[in-house]
Amino acid sequence: KQRYLTGITTTGTPHLGNYVGAIRPAIEAVNAGGADYFFFLADYHALIKCTDPAQVRRSSREIAATWLALGLDTEQAVFYRQSDVPEIPELTWILGCSAAKGLMNRAHAYKAAVQANEEAGEDPDYGVTMGLFNYPVLMAADILMFNATHVPVGRDQLQHLEMARDIGQRFNHNFAELFTLPDAVVDDSVAVLQGLDGRKMSKSYGNTIPLFEGEKKLRKAVNKIKTNLLEPGEPKDPERSTVFQIWSAFAPPAEVERMRREFAAGIAWGEAKKQLFELINEELSPARERYEALLADPGYIEAVLKAGAERARAVAVPLMERVREAVGIAPVD
Ligand code: TYM
Repeated sequence: KQRYLTGITTTGTPHLGNYVGAIRPAIEAVNAGGADYFFFLADYHALIKCTDPAQVRRSSREIAATWLALGLDTEQAVFYRQSDVPEIPELTWILGCSAAKGLMNRAHAYKAAVQANEEAGEDPDYGVTMGLFNYPVLMAADILMFNATHVPVGRDQLQHLEMARDIGQRFNHNFAELFTLPDAVVDDSVAVLQGLDGRKMSKSYGNTIPLFEGEKKLRKAVNKIKTNLLEPGEPKDPERSTVFQIWSAFAPPAEVERMRREFAAGIAWGEAKKQLFELINEELSPARERYEALLADPGYIEAVLKAGAERARAVAVPLMERVREAVGIAPVD
């Protein structure tokens, strides 16, 4: 049986990139049915980038409320918090013992940190923690722990999926065939959603459009999307436009084609942004109200997560026993 799994790091407020890259395809998969679903709050991953406990807590609540507000069916999907499943960090250690350091050296996030240090003339490892270095092993444990077959993610996570496969394969080869090798599910029409400044929309760049911002703020954010200096009436290149890219992630195909023609005909930026705001707002405003209500009810969110953790552990505990057995950490016989 197919098994979908994905997680979101609890370091910030969910944004349009998280939505189109991971949450929307994941919820669509649940609604299509016929598979198992595991979605979680990656709060151990949050500690890698964030040393502010209040922010991690707030973000966990916001991300949980987001999934629920968007209508995640928590009967169908197992919805849990990574840190409620202690088998995950346990598996992380064991997998780390067969993961190649050379493979981890190539991880984008780690390499980017080293490169930034080198460019700044610092020691290459300045500020680089073991958490950052181990990030892909923890992510492999998240995935392999549940024998996921399909992992809906944005393109930025593809390398981590490759690493999870590599790590799983090594374990299977060295000890026992316990792990399924997962495939990434990437929505090609979206790839990587751009942020306000045209770079990848990302919490760490501060260029995001939050998913459930109030209407006024959403309009303001859309108006801030960077455009080139073309005047109304001048043909605009859709392929190089963030406005068009975000439009394509939300509009049905016929509307994408219409906007492409409008761009060629030189639609004014103000008009294009107005239409973009309306499109996004229409898709998100029903969920926005539910989101606000859920945020105000942490007791409910906690109950949902606890119930999810129990179901997650019902899978993780027996697999972990087999892993221990396979590597020799078993009762003396
Ligand atoms: P994170 O929290 O950075 O992002 C969550 C999901 O959102 C996607 N995403 C985007 N997609 C399209 N365009 C964008 N601009 C954009 N920005 C973010 C990400 O690709 C991701 O799918 N390490 C992961 C979380 C994680 C995980 C896992 C995911 C931990 N364990 C196991 C899958 C399976 C991360 O930091 O995602």
